[in-house]
Amino acid sequence: MTATPTITSPLRLAGISKQFGAVTAIQQFDLEIEPGEIVALVGDNGAGKSTLVKIISGLYQPTNGEIWISGERAELSDPSDARARGVEVVYQDLALVDLQPVYMNLFLGRELTRGPLRTLDRARMARETQELVDELDIRIPSARAQLSDLSGGQRQGIAIARATHWASGLVLMDEPTAALGVAETARVEETILKLKERGAAVLIVSHNMEQVFRVADRVTVLRRGTQVGTRVVSETSHNELVAMITGLAS
Ligand SMILES: Nc1ncnc2c1ncn2[C@@H]1O[C@H](COP(=O)(O)OP(=O)(O)OP(=O)(O)O)[C@@H](O)[C@H]1O
Ligand SMILES: [Mg+2]
Repeated sequence: MTATPTITSPLRLAGISKQFGAVTAIQQFDLEIEPGEIVALVGDNGAGKSTLVKIISGLYQPTNGEIWISGERAELSDPSDARARGVEVVYQDLALVDLQPVYMNLFLGRELTRGPLRTLDRARMARETQELVDELDIRIPSARAQLSDLSGGQRQGIAIARATHWASGLVLMDEPTAALGVAETARVEETILKLKERGAAVLIVSHNMEQVFRVADRVTVLRRGTQVGTRVVSETSHNELVAMITGLAS
């Protein structure tokens, strides 16, 4: 790690370790992400990638190490702590509700209301959702469309839009395109690059090396819980990354 520590980094991890009983899922992991930077987290199955995402999103607590979010030391006892600090997560298996319109999904659990009776302010939620999907260039029929009428790529676009809307600086993505086809993956990657333009820091777990080269600025490699190295994407190669992931010389 060569990044200079700055107090305003959206995310800084120092010496993060996680034990599950006798299993060491993560060992001494360090990372700092700058605003507008996309860092890919790669590694084989079971390397510890999702565990790390869950630690940063407050789902798991690290056994050791420090998490700093926007320059502040963060003790995340559950996901609401992470959300309160502006950290949002996009999962492969979407946490979306099929039988609701797009705008309700965008505001899930944080619905806008109006008046003393706290009636759902559907018009405002629909308007704000439409503005956001337009800004991110996510092509859906309407913010009022039922979620079940959208394609997988459109749905993943909505999941990313939701994370963007609520994140103040950091978006975590665990294999956001794993279930998508080529064209849909391309659309979602465009949305991820829009997040970068907006100044968000993104940590993206991916098994897709081409994707890493298309979207990420840096890539960090985990092998069986150990951080093997971090590279600037423009200064590494597919072969070097595969060698780091597998532990075999290229
Ligand atoms: N809740 C848990 N309890 C016990 N062990 C766990 C738990 N979660 C993860 N592990 C273990 O930690 C290790 C890392 O798992 P993790 O899910 O982080 O891998 P991953 O890199 O995301 O893999 P994949 O690419 O298959 O998604 C594995 O050995 C896994 O069995
Ligand atoms: Mg995983």
